[in-house]
Amino acid sequence: MAHGTSATGIRLLGISGSIRRNSNCTAVLRSLQPLLPAPATIELFALDDVPIYNADLDGDAPPAAVARLKDAIAQADGLVLCSPEYNYGMPGVLKNAIDWASRPGFASPLKGKPALVITASPGTAGGVRAQAQIRDALAATLARPVVRQHVAIANVNARLRDGQLVDEATLDFVRAALADLLEEIALLDKAALGAAVRR
Ligand SMILES: Cc1cc2nc3c(=O)[nH]c(=O)nc-3n(C[C@H](O)[C@H](O)[C@H](O)COP(=O)(O)O)c2cc1C
Repeated sequence: MAHGTSATGIRLLGISGSIRRNSNCTAVLRSLQPLLPAPATIELFALDDVPIYNADLDGDAPPAAVARLKDAIAQADGLVLCSPEYNYGMPGVLKNAIDWASRPGFASPLKGKPALVITASPGTAGGVRAQAQIRDALAATLARPVVRQHVAIANVNARLRDGQLVDEATLDFVRAALADLLEEIALLDKAALGAAVRR
């Protein structure tokens, strides 16, 4: 994994499961930076240009947007995925991105990567039915979905104003989830350091 230290900062990568211009999920991700403690930063990676997965195009020289996605994941200390639920599951755009990023199998940039999963919906279930699918797909890649209460933001459009998350209770819940992600990153860094010392 990329090593997040206090000297270099902790770099998070936000990936939205919606490529719609006025996406609620992207708005949630754009609201996260102020919730993070100073050494941590978050950048977003837009999936707009990632083509449909085709193993014929995969390998050492994948399509440019795929190479950028994999590089961004490799450089990040942790991921924050925010996704809608489409027909009770994860949108194809997100599954497609996970599929590209998952190669080579069990040795991809996703391996060992801590990932906080957020779902959001204008509906009352907050997209929670997509959570298990997203977590399962991440687990298949050997990424590390953060184990905690699900972050499923119901009535999300009512909690946003001018493209920013403004609902205080939601902000508090998401802040706690981000703290869990940072804790997971710190634990993994410590474990890696311990392993290096024992070697
Ligand atoms: C194909 C499709 C399927 C959808 N299925 C669900 C669903 O199962 N559950 C739900 O809560 N919302 C569903 N919605 C509504 C989305 O949650 C809503 O469009 C949401 O705003 C999309 O996320 P975004 O704002 O980040 O683009 C669906 C929308 C589309 C386009």
